[in-house]
Amino acid sequence: MRHLMSPLDFSVEELDQLFDLAHDIEENPAKYSGKCTGKKLATLFYEPSTRTRLSFETAMLNLGGNVIGFADAASSSVSKGESVSDTIRVISCFADICAMRHPKEGAPMVAASHSSIPVINAGDGGHQHPTQTLTDLLTIRSLKGRLSGFTIGLCGDLKFGRTVHSLINALLRYSDIRFIFISPVELRVPDYITDNLRKLGIPYQEVIKLEECMGSLDLLYMTRVQKERFFNEEDYVRLKDFYILDPAKMSLAKPDMLVLHPLPRVNEISVEVDQDPRAVYFKQVQYGVYIRMALILRLLEIA
Ligand code: NCD
Repeated sequence: MRHLMSPLDFSVEELDQLFDLAHDIEENPAKYSGKCTGKKLATLFYEPSTRTRLSFETAMLNLGGNVIGFADAASSSVSKGESVSDTIRVISCFADICAMRHPKEGAPMVAASHSSIPVINAGDGGHQHPTQTLTDLLTIRSLKGRLSGFTIGLCGDLKFGRTVHSLINALLRYSDIRFIFISPVELRVPDYITDNLRKLGIPYQEVIKLEECMGSLDLLYMTRVQKERFFNEEDYVRLKDFYILDPAKMSLAKPDMLVLHPLPRVNEISVEVDQDPRAVYFKQVQYGVYIRMALILRLLEIA
């Protein structure tokens, strides 16, 4: 039985097969609409989320399966003090597969080690968010036709943003990728990531101003400042509007540069940019459903 804790749990070849499956689902949805009849997905969300949870639920419903779960810890036995390892033992009796989001790094890993059903990490603290990364990779592969040979700018909260950490980690396995990290000094990408890039000889640059690098990017990955992970409100207020991507900045970019964002967006992309064909963050949401459908099928060993 397999779990998904990190995007690296799958080899590059396995990921390619998963992306091919997601592509087939996109092209032939009817072929998959009954694949999970009689199966149940449990969504255990100990931290607020709309997108990821609903994306998982939609994926399972599209496959003909059912969904159970909770959307915040307060409405579950966790509020009575139940441990993650007990909760998963109980859920294993009810469901066939589970997606867990938790504010503590490593909690889904603890769950996986006590589980008799596949566990998917749906985001653990500031650590990893593998299904968002699979979504990002599928979006890039589908719209650019490749996962190698580009310059990617990651902009915003590179310190606390788990989607950023997870995506960088996953891209390290593809060739000819250059990273440009765009953040205020306080929200720089953690040292363990840059140390690793140096060790691997992968080129990266750190800049503060978006305008400085806009013209050289093939992909721009925007992120929001992660309010809930700040220790004081003052720092958050000072940094929250540090970047606002607007049409003027977009005019500096290549005609085929793509803008991605894991969403939710706060202020970091002005709504006028939504009209720009290079803004693909809502398409990205749709790819998120296809990849989660593919993942559920793989982990349940149905396809
Ligand atoms: C991200 C997350 O939860 O880390 N959202 C998501 O899953 N699409 C990004 C965020 O919250 O900023």
